[in-house]
Amino acid sequence: MLRNPITINSDLVEKIVVREEAAFKKRTPRSLEIYKRALSSLPMGVSSSFQAIPPYPLTISRAEGSHIWDYDGNEYVDFHLAFGSLLVGHSHPVLVKALRDQLGKGSLYSLPCADTVFLAEELVRRFAPIEQVRFCNSGTEATMDAIRLARAHTKRDKIVKIEGTYHGHHDTVMMSTKPSAEAAGSADHPNTVPASLGIPKDVRDNVIIAPYNNAEALERILTEHEGEVAAIITEAVLMNVGIMLPEDGYLQSVRDITRRHGVLLIFDEVKTGVTVAAGGITELYPVEPDLICLAKSIGGGMPIGAFGGREEIMRHINHNEVLHLGTFNGNPMSMRAGLVTLTQLFTPEAHAHANGLSKRLADGYLQLINDFDMPMHIAQIGAKGCAMLRHERARNYRAWLDVDTRLAYAYWLF
Ligand SMILES: Cc1ncc(COP(=O)(O)O)c(C=O)c1O
Repeated sequence: MLRNPITINSDLVEKIVVREEAAFKKRTPRSLEIYKRALSSLPMGVSSSFQAIPPYPLTISRAEGSHIWDYDGNEYVDFHLAFGSLLVGHSHPVLVKALRDQLGKGSLYSLPCADTVFLAEELVRRFAPIEQVRFCNSGTEATMDAIRLARAHTKRDKIVKIEGTYHGHHDTVMMSTKPSAEAAGSADHPNTVPASLGIPKDVRDNVIIAPYNNAEALERILTEHEGEVAAIITEAVLMNVGIMLPEDGYLQSVRDITRRHGVLLIFDEVKTGVTVAAGGITELYPVEPDLICLAKSIGGGMPIGAFGGREEIMRHINHNEVLHLGTFNGNPMSMRAGLVTLTQLFTPEAHAHANGLSKRLADGYLQLINDFDMPMHIAQIGAKGCAMLRHERARNYRAWLDVDTRLAYAYWLF
């Protein structure tokens, strides 16, 4: 437990920002050159708006193992690993060989290949809630398809989403991902705040926002909207606002409440997937959701997504009542990458090794935090970890609003 943390001197933070921005610009002139050129052909100079990180994005030229190089030749240790998609690291030699071989046999059939079946079987084996699974190409598609399935199964339209979670960029889930304090409303009755223009009002009207770690609020919402809510979609451990862990008993309460109200529970395991444990969240917390969504690390770095659950729910696809389609679904490159990653690289020993490294890093941070009375805490689970720039543990999104964004920026630049 921390003693009283030091007070952050904001003048000093600004000085660090100025100094580190200057150092950043000095060592990355080619990234700046490419970024300036990109601005005329790509909005914000990037293909995904969150890549537009100030002062300007680094342009990457190559990556290998745990290291990544920018266009100016600077080498970095890559703790980000594409939001955890690359738990096996960049260009793992076993994967490189497997994908070269596959490329020689065709990269896209838009017809079934055997690896799709083998990878589906591996997901069924690893993830307790999955009896049947379908593949798509991203986490966004996985949550979109899971929500459609839940609506079909329950014949209801409304979705409950947790404030501060990110589930991709389709309309239903682009609500209250990181709303401003003014827009968010009261902490117990949060407003539904669209994160983008262009989302129809009736989509917003079908999304109800609930605070994380607050079972009473969920009970109230489902009672107020009895018979209207198809599903609650949530990450069991929030990973869009640093990392926020569930309080004791919270996930079980969510399960009990949703069952009582006939509402499906969707766990978005796009980030937690195989990174927190070989079998995901339900291996660590004995709570069984109705559907889970996967992506990122199950594909070893190739585009992939998947959603699955009990046959009783997936049968709507079996019966062709819910359409799930896609030219690239189950494509042989992603299937090969996923299969090799899960069956040859993510061995039990590899999982244990990654978790051990993560714990070691977290312990090192903890030591520093204690030695220097820093106003930080560490949230760590499996191979995932995060240094949160606030003294107390965060219970839900509202705590995120207290984080000093200039300090976070200085920390990132440093
Ligand atoms: C929890 C979660 N769900 C869904 C998504 C969307 O995944 P994708 O970017 O592959 O569409 C993300 C992306 O960061 C995520 O973190």
